[in-house]
Amino acid sequence: MNGDLETVLAGARIVPVLTVRDPATAAPLAEALASGGARCAEVTFRTPDAERVVEAMAAHGGLAVGAGTVVTPEQAERAVAAGARFVVSPGYDESVVAKCRELGVPVLPGVASATELMRALRDGLDTVKLFPAEAIGGVGMLRALAAPFPQVRFVPTGGIGAAELAGYLAVPAVLAVGGSWMATPAHLANGDYPQIRRLTAEAVARSTP
Ligand code: 3PG
Repeated sequence: MNGDLETVLAGARIVPVLTVRDPATAAPLAEALASGGARCAEVTFRTPDAERVVEAMAAHGGLAVGAGTVVTPEQAERAVAAGARFVVSPGYDESVVAKCRELGVPVLPGVASATELMRALRDGLDTVKLFPAEAIGGVGMLRALAAPFPQVRFVPTGGIGAAELAGYLAVPAVLAVGGSWMATPAHLANGDYPQIRRLTAEAVARSTP
């Protein structure tokens, strides 16, 4: 089990993945995502102020804010201290998973192969990120990987855009789909919050039966 990941995501099937350079954009970004219907967001730890961004977005209150690109136990600690409610990793690292368990925060580690998935299962997880989904074979790869592991739920992420979304959501093993297409660094640099809201609303509408 991945702790209460499904509870934290609260039925959300879209996970906007954000790389935010300027913490001042965090509040309007959270507002654009939430008003577009997003219920969660993943703030990647790829920028110097990622913790401040998590804090500011969490303060908005309308989103379950998690941390992404968490590759060390120490980053997981900092993410949780900043208010992250879930932790996402691009790959599978036992020490990150163990730290998240210790902290009591749901973890979503990345896998790109059956071998990595079996490590996650061995450690008692039942939900994984499939990363980088498009580059490793897309929906075909996902279906093939899911077949021998009917108990596993996937959050495919990586290279997915609006055009690919429906194909992933149609796979029963998919819990949610992640991606940065709704709020790119370019949208943020240009302050294009109406477009972020529009792309988010479009994705959420497609994910709602
Ligand atoms: C991630 O860290 O999950 C990815 O960078 C998101 O992938 P995308 O930018 O290709 O959507």
